[in-house]
Amino acid sequence: MSGEKGGTRYRVEALGRQHDRSGFSCGSEPLDHYLRAQAGQDARKRVAAPFVLCEGEGNTVLGYYTLSAISVDIGEWPETVAKKLPRYPVVPATLLGRLAIDRRFQGQGAGEHLLMDALCRSLQASRQVAALAVIVDAKDARAVAFYRRYEFIPFADQPARLFLPLSVIEKLFP
Ligand SMILES: CC(C)(COP(=O)(O)OP(=O)(O)OC[C@H]1O[C@@H](n2cnc3c(N)ncnc32)[C@H](O)[C@@H]1OP(=O)(O)O)[C@@H](O)C(=O)NCCC(=O)NCCS
Repeated sequence: MSGEKGGTRYRVEALGRQHDRSGFSCGSEPLDHYLRAQAGQDARKRVAAPFVLCEGEGNTVLGYYTLSAISVDIGEWPETVAKKLPRYPVVPATLLGRLAIDRRFQGQGAGEHLLMDALCRSLQASRQVAALAVIVDAKDARAVAFYRRYEFIPFADQPARLFLPLSVIEKLFP
């Protein structure tokens, strides 16, 4: 998907061999290392789908995220959510496993652009393969604050794991 933010023309697409990730640095070594060393393999093995943010016609990676399918035990959802669901033991969701922006581009709206792309893509996918919510695993308190800004709700027993119902996401993309 493509779009513009503050005059910058962004492109988000599936990670491919053409993308240059060698200089990517977001301030979190595990997230940098994942992009450089693991993301391609995860895509080939179909355990995660990595998407990258590029600018204009360039192939330098400015940011990335991954999506995967997960199941969450019915008991983990807040009562207000669970009581509206059939009593299936597990409920399907989409995991936004990682999301990161290169340090040189942080604070310029790229993170929001990438998050919205991930939510929109998850919404489209959920129309073919059902998911109740998008779940994120925030790596630290700053990441929790970022997601809370977009109304993600923490799970009671795992405050670093947050979710946003697809019913809410749907309203963002009428
Ligand atoms: C968290 C991260 C993705 C944010 O990306 P970014 O490009 O800097 O964010 P944006 O510029 O798009 O900011 C969008 C909005 O979120 C706010 N925001 C950014 N980081 C925030 C944080 N940690 N807490 C609360 N709000 C935050 C911004 O102020 C902005 O709000 P505004 O429009 O009202 O000013 C980026 O800092 C990053 O990659 N960090 C390292 C990796 C990481 O922590 N990933 C998160 C999950 S694993």
